[in-house]
Amino acid sequence: MSDYARPAGLALAHFWVACGAFFVAVLLGLYQVLERAELIPVWAEGYYISVTAHGMIMAYVLTTFFILGFGYYTAASSLQRSVWNMPLAWAGFCTMLAGVVLVIFSIVTGQATVLYTFYAPLTAHWTFYAGTLLLLTGSLGWVVNMFVMTVQWQRANPGEPFPLPMFATTANAILWSWMLVGVGCSVAFMLLPLSLGWVDSIDVGLSKTLFAWTLHPITYFWLIPAYIAMYTIVPRVAGGRLFSDNMARVAFILLLVFALPIGMHHLYADPFQAAGWKLLAAFGTFMVAVPTLITGFTVIASMEIAGRLRGGRGMFGWITALPWKEPVVLAQILALLLLTLGGFGGMVNASYGMNSMVHNTMWVPAHFHLVFAGTVMTMYFAIAYHLWPKMTGNMLYSAGMARLQLWFWFIGVAMLTLPWHYLGLLWMPRRTAYLPYAPEFVRQWQPWMELMAVAGVIMVTSALLFIWNLLSTHGNRQPVAERELEFAEPLHPVLRLPKPLNGFALWNTIIVIYMVMGFGYPLLQFFLMEPHNALAWGW
Ligand code: CU
Repeated sequence: MSDYARPAGLALAHFWVACGAFFVAVLLGLYQVLERAELIPVWAEGYYISVTAHGMIMAYVLTTFFILGFGYYTAASSLQRSVWNMPLAWAGFCTMLAGVVLVIFSIVTGQATVLYTFYAPLTAHWTFYAGTLLLLTGSLGWVVNMFVMTVQWQRANPGEPFPLPMFATTANAILWSWMLVGVGCSVAFMLLPLSLGWVDSIDVGLSKTLFAWTLHPITYFWLIPAYIAMYTIVPRVAGGRLFSDNMARVAFILLLVFALPIGMHHLYADPFQAAGWKLLAAFGTFMVAVPTLITGFTVIASMEIAGRLRGGRGMFGWITALPWKEPVVLAQILALLLLTLGGFGGMVNASYGMNSMVHNTMWVPAHFHLVFAGTVMTMYFAIAYHLWPKMTGNMLYSAGMARLQLWFWFIGVAMLTLPWHYLGLLWMPRRTAYLPYAPEFVRQWQPWMELMAVAGVIMVTSALLFIWNLLSTHGNRQPVAERELEFAEPLHPVLRLPKPLNGFALWNTIIVIYMVMGFGYPLLQFFLMEPHNALAWGW
């Protein structure tokens, strides 16, 4: 059936950079919780080096490499065509890797303790920014490949429904391209020149607003592959159907459109923007809950179909009829549980008023660890368990180990992040190496901090099982029966699609309008008023 080349080598190269980086970053996470709980000697510089490396790796290295690898594999499998330009794909990969080496160099030598948001006026060594730019530039090799493959398929199959997995992947490539502009401008035209001494000061407000442009959509760039797996892979493994293909498309479109213009909610506590703009971002942020609610509904309905097809009866019988032993299905159930909790926390952050109650407290890392380490990573594990046998041709080394790993991760994440929310309400600050606060406060925090150290150990164990399982799969002699990556069929076959659900022209036009509305004046104002520049501040 397949007359195209499966890009297994290319995807595996991306995945292994992602997984290796992930493992290192999990170890750093353990160091940080032990340090915060004062179970090991406090070393402030080491802590900030570690937090910066942990954040940079998790947010940019692990995610970007994993998503690109998954994108190449999904594109080839769902369109049944080879990757358009392999040399370009590999060139992009090598450029990104060179960027990672530069960034890591600047961090481990103690010259870039600026955390993963690298907010001005904190200033790192120039290699940090140059490396970041290389990472972003290299990813364009993937973007171009995805766009060209999309256009080629559409030309070859005019009017046909564009396969859903690739529709979502292209939506993500568009999101990534839009999102790059903010951070790209801030790094290329402000932070890099500042770090090289070409300019002696930059406008912090402008730099932070540009970063906010990127910071919200990038979280959806991480989340979309998890949703792709939920819509198109898990229902098939569970033996069901996708409840609605159209609904899935609407969700991906809304994620793309709504996620882009709302980043200003990261500036609620900053003085650079007037309150009205922030309120607008707050409304927009509530809108972005809609595609996630659609996803929750559609994905659970798809699971119900699977459970009923497997003989589950009654109101809840379909839940127990699901193949819980399949790591991919288990992962999805656990990921949805964590997403539900994470979603509620997110509403608090999004609310202009309540946000000030939790700003810069442990609530914030609690929220994004719950959604990112919880939902997103759990689905990345599922993708890895599903794809590794297809890419290597060998059966997964141990499904039992995979289940154990998933449960460990679930328990670890819950044990880490639920107390962090509470600590946030007790006003424990985030991002500090030590806690020189009144003993009445510290005494309240202490028991929860010891719990988070236990959670750290559980999560490291889980990460170890994950890596071990994947490594052992390469040496597993049992061949796998089905190497083709196949996707869930929708409950009702898609014969024709309205044009807006089959392409992106309309949505890109709407995004342009939204971005001008959301960021036009807030960015322009910096060029209309006298600059409020700050000097470089850092290493
Ligand atoms: Cu955000």
